[in-house]
Amino acid sequence: MQLIQSPDQMLAEVKSLKRKGLSIGLVPTMGALHLGHKALVDQSLRDNEVTVTSVFVNPTQFNNPEDLARYPKTLEEDVKKLKDWGATIVFAPDENAIYPRKPTIRLNFGRLEEVLEGKFRPGHFNGVGIIVSKLLNLVLPDRAYFGLKDFQQFLIVKELVANFSVPAEIIGIPTQRHSSGLAISSRNQNLSDKGLEIAANIYKGLEMARELIQSKKGIRETIRLTDQFYDEVDGLEIEYFEIVSAETLLSEDIAQNGPLLLSVAGYVENIRLIDNLYLQPD
Ligand code: PAJ
Repeated sequence: MQLIQSPDQMLAEVKSLKRKGLSIGLVPTMGALHLGHKALVDQSLRDNEVTVTSVFVNPTQFNNPEDLARYPKTLEEDVKKLKDWGATIVFAPDENAIYPRKPTIRLNFGRLEEVLEGKFRPGHFNGVGIIVSKLLNLVLPDRAYFGLKDFQQFLIVKELVANFSVPAEIIGIPTQRHSSGLAISSRNQNLSDKGLEIAANIYKGLEMARELIQSKKGIRETIRLTDQFYDEVDGLEIEYFEIVSAETLLSEDIAQNGPLLLSVAGYVENIRLIDNLYLQPD
């Protein structure tokens, strides 16, 4: 496995691999790697001859400086894990190399960025869009892999690629969970055992909502009962719980047989956690 830190070297390497006709998969991450990331790497390894995993804690997507400061940085362990998992290249640029100057453009994803996470994290998807654009341009992948845990991010990246005609296929990977149901996340490292127990209720609420919808309770009643469930969990502070169209992320676009997204964000021990459940009504 190769560790590349310079963007120029990354581009040179990938051009040479492409001249040999090899297919390239890109797995963008912010490190502190876990089994959720591994699912993306595994799929890329199955689909492509070369898998580039990027590890970069992207400052432009953090709207809260404390959140950025607290974000775990564990490059050495990440490199070890990627070697074990069989990844081909780790791309871990430093901040000055990837941002030689402050970006002067701003990406606006319209309504898609005004809802759910976008409402609570102003500027977040601009930062995600900019770093993902840079990574796509430096790695030139045939396919790039994103987790459906961050469902809105997945749609934003698809939108980015469609708008800029980026010749890469964007592939979504199902959310990997602990046995408690809690979505695996780098942020879970900052939780105590008690906090992990509390956090498992985030997914329990989503499952409950799914069952209510499947038993034809209706969206409004499902939201009321799920909100009530979340209210009763000590130590869990829900920021939003919403049911929206999985195509546009707007509740007014919910269609009779269209896919739904159950989406939640909340705080446990001051750590912000999110989860999403995609639901295809039968
Ligand atoms: P990060 O949070 O490190 O996540 C990297 C990728 O792993 C994302 O596509 C995310 O959705 C996916 N992922 C995280 N936890 C997962 C889980 N439990 N199951 C499945 N997939 C999971 O998301 C980012 O980094 C950044 O915003 C990034 C795209 C790298 C841009 O900086």
